[in-house]
Amino acid sequence: MTMNLGLVRQDTPGCKDLVHFNNAGSSLQPRAVTEAVLHHLMLEQRLGGYEAAEAQAALSDNFYHALARLFNCAPREIAFAENSTRAWTQLLLAIPFESGDRILTGQSEYASNYLSLLHLAKTRGVRIDVVPNLDNGKICLQTLEKKLDDDVRLIALTHVASQSGVIQPVAEVGKLARKHRIFYLLDACQSAGQLQLDVNEIGCDMLTGSGRKYMRGPRGTGFMYVRHTILNYLQPQSIDLQSATWASRDHYELRDDARRFEVWEHYVAGKIGLAVAADYAFTMGMDEIENTVRSLADRLRHQIAELPGFTVHESGAELCGIVTFSSEHHSAMQIQQHLRTQHINTSVIRRQNTQLDFATRQLGDIGRASVHYYNTDTEIEQFCSALRLLTHAR
Ligand SMILES: Cc1ncc(COP(=O)(O)O)c(C=O)c1O
Repeated sequence: MTMNLGLVRQDTPGCKDLVHFNNAGSSLQPRAVTEAVLHHLMLEQRLGGYEAAEAQAALSDNFYHALARLFNCAPREIAFAENSTRAWTQLLLAIPFESGDRILTGQSEYASNYLSLLHLAKTRGVRIDVVPNLDNGKICLQTLEKKLDDDVRLIALTHVASQSGVIQPVAEVGKLARKHRIFYLLDACQSAGQLQLDVNEIGCDMLTGSGRKYMRGPRGTGFMYVRHTILNYLQPQSIDLQSATWASRDHYELRDDARRFEVWEHYVAGKIGLAVAADYAFTMGMDEIENTVRSLADRLRHQIAELPGFTVHESGAELCGIVTFSSEHHSAMQIQQHLRTQHINTSVIRRQNTQLDFATRQLGDIGRASVHYYNTDTEIEQFCSALRLLTHAR
């Protein structure tokens, strides 16, 4: 099935006045998502928060089914979180580490994840072992395998980094994790919603992401997947009336599904909105979305690379919708500001937040243009014309 771009764009009011190439930051919501959130907020205004939640319980519950369908798992393996970092950190802290345990992670790991690892190393005595990337930006699987000794407790990897369009070989890592019986936590924050994700094909035990990025959901929403077979090895760091039942005066029982990582009070409108976004992506077809995004991004890379003085920072066959670039003549910040004056949204990746990766690749701050399936070739031309204008104005 070929995507009907006209309809998709009609469904995305933000497209009208903007070239939005900041989907890796937070994408434009489809009308149906915003309407679902607003509808719930209006119900809260009219009925009261608890009463609105009760009235919309089926839509709220659909969250687990919609996400499970998208990632090919069971609804009880899905939990809602306020964002990706919270979901990821909660899972990390639930693993029963002992002092001296090793955690293998990648060179492109997300900054907040790496900060949590540093904190864990400081407070619980675990050791962080970074597996380098090959020149093509992918994690070196041979080095990873060599490092898989008995003291390795966790492989924590980011599927698609914030700072590069390279898709990591997550299923190959999954095979190694299974072979060596090691927990595997995958950060899918940038891949969910743009790439087809099947947790069984990937072989991860846990996966996290946020709603606002390629999923096209509301801000302030996130999710996690926890394979049901590992649930009882994980101890949540904190519990409440959602994650556990106060069974008798001195006893409690943890939930026996992934919702043992949820908290009772949460953003109900956002959860409903994210479920709508997940259904929307499923109906659109994740294979169709992935193909569209990847070929659009390829054309964008190609056209930026042809502009004098510009460099594109990723190459190879396994690339997604994130395109990173820099110019000989202007800083990433100057480019972003100039593009903003032309109603083109992009973002800047700061070296400070990618210390392992950018030190190795000897990069400073760079620009990021991230496309989604609702973007067009005309918008790519507008983007490149704006860059040309900047170069000529020098
Ligand atoms: C790869 C990756 N992981 C995690 C996050 C954190 O997501 P959140 O801000 O929802 O916690 C981001 C945000 O940019 C990201 O790019």
